[in-house]
Amino acid sequence: MIRFRTFLILLLLQVVILWQCKHDPFELEEQIQPTDTTDTATDTTDTVIPQDTTTTDSIEIPGPPAGTKFIPSSPQRPGNASDGRDYLVTGDYVSSGIPYNIFTLVNGTDPSNQLNRSGDNSNISYSFTAVDAPNGVRVVAANCLQCHAQELNGELIMGLGNSLADFTTDQSSGISLLDLAVTSTYGNPSPEWTAYQPFRQAVTATGPYIVSEKIGANPADKLATVLAAYRDGESLEWQQQTNWPLETSVIPSDVPAWWLLKKKNAMFATASGKGDFARIMMASGLLTLEDKTQAESIDSHFDDVLAYLLSLTAPAYSGNINTTMAGRGEKVFKANCASCHGYEEYYPNLLVDLDVVGTDPALAEVQQSNAQFTNWYNNSWFASAPNAALMDPEYGYLAPPLDGVWATAPYLHNASVPNLETLLNSSARPTYWTRSGSSSDYDMEAVGWSYTESTSPGGKWTFDTTLPGYGNQGHTFGDALSDEERTALIEYLKTL
Ligand code: HEC
Ligand code: HEC
Repeated sequence: MIRFRTFLILLLLQVVILWQCKHDPFELEEQIQPTDTTDTATDTTDTVIPQDTTTTDSIEIPGPPAGTKFIPSSPQRPGNASDGRDYLVTGDYVSSGIPYNIFTLVNGTDPSNQLNRSGDNSNISYSFTAVDAPNGVRVVAANCLQCHAQELNGELIMGLGNSLADFTTDQSSGISLLDLAVTSTYGNPSPEWTAYQPFRQAVTATGPYIVSEKIGANPADKLATVLAAYRDGESLEWQQQTNWPLETSVIPSDVPAWWLLKKKNAMFATASGKGDFARIMMASGLLTLEDKTQAESIDSHFDDVLAYLLSLTAPAYSGNINTTMAGRGEKVFKANCASCHGYEEYYPNLLVDLDVVGTDPALAEVQQSNAQFTNWYNNSWFASAPNAALMDPEYGYLAPPLDGVWATAPYLHNASVPNLETLLNSSARPTYWTRSGSSSDYDMEAVGWSYTESTSPGGKWTFDTTLPGYGNQGHTFGDALSDEERTALIEYLKTL
């Protein structure tokens, strides 16, 4: 049973994201907002700095630091947020899966109905959706919330990157059991088998290539590239031969909170997702879609999904905040952090060179070196007008907005740092750190996951920062602060 459950989770792997590769400096139409005065490929010299309106100081926010560049915005399709939420949690963007009765038999039912869904969806976990496959058979498919929602201190937070999801087993290893369940219950051939087949095919093909080493390390980027390798770029049909050879290594990433997207001009850690965000997100459908016609129908709902994501706001910190200290921390933040991360509504959309931020370069590097994927994407249906998307990974990382940062541990693009205290003091970061796995083991003072420091790589709950792509180096911008300044700064970060 446990095996099955794990297996199901994997299914999720719908993916989205990613690409890797070589810059094709494909010109984006730069829809510069009225306040963005330049967008040249290097430093923006004339970013508008908000006036200091806080009671105290006249601390000015410095302009963009050296080694940063402005990422320009692209036009986005408008949509209806409430329709988008509906489609997100009930829609058939993944349209193949496990026949409903087998799913509930294996997993049991989940009466909590945390999303207040109706019908068959009211009996299954929020991260799965009951949908009708194209032939009308009711199946259960993984949805975006496998990776994009998480419980924290007993509350399900929509849009919070799920750092508790387990991608450490090869999902394809559970397929023969499922085959047996479907065949013995319904026969093969049968409509149920047909409805299950695309899902089965995708899990079998991708499973071995998307295994991550540790919990918190998400292989979605890799999943996207593997799915692309199996599909014809124009027709989007599945092929038996891959477009390029695959290898098993996975450079993982952390899942960013959805409520940050409204401030960003590009998606993903390396700002690789440019152009139409809705188009980029619907790539999850690549897991099971039949062809481009089905892709167009899925795509027609993602303007609404985008509107929903843009309507989300960060959860408020639920502990106590010392406002005097937070006020002092605010000054520290404006002087040392805001030039990259922004302040209040001001957000500069800066891509920071690897040399400057100094964090693990592997994700940016693998994306630069995987030109096959980038070329595939940029010549595929995804890049076709109207609403074209572009995969254009930068050699650096976006300085993200910090709204709700208290809830988004572990930190950095690879989830390598357990809490804010250690993020701001790089010499205190643990090499091996172990979580209990409980979503309530959150340290509201150090702000992040409670952990014990280990001396060896350990099991899947021990994050090992010595693995390729898992490094916790860099972002030393808090190191020069005094202990007192750091404590005040953390108090301020709780308020965001
Ligand atoms: C298997 C896990 C997984 C699933 C399922 C998944 N995502 Fe993601 N998503 C990720 C990861 C990991 C990233 C970050 C990748 C990176 O930055 O390299 C991400 C990034 C994003 C971003 C960009 C956020 C930002 O600020 O840059 C959006 C938007 C997004 N996903 C939407 C979706 C939607 C909508 C779905 C469902 C249709 C979905 N995702 C399904 C793992 C997943
Ligand atoms: C030169 C630009 C720059 C400065 C200055 C800077 N940061 Fe960052 N920050 C970044 C970049 C880039 C990242 C993403 C790095 C990565 O994920 O590898 C980041 C990541 C973070 C994160 C992790 C966010 C997450 O969800 O994982 C936090 C928290 C953070 N910074 C806080 C601060 C604070 C507080 C300061 C001031 C002491 C600061 N930063 C100064 C560029 C900067």
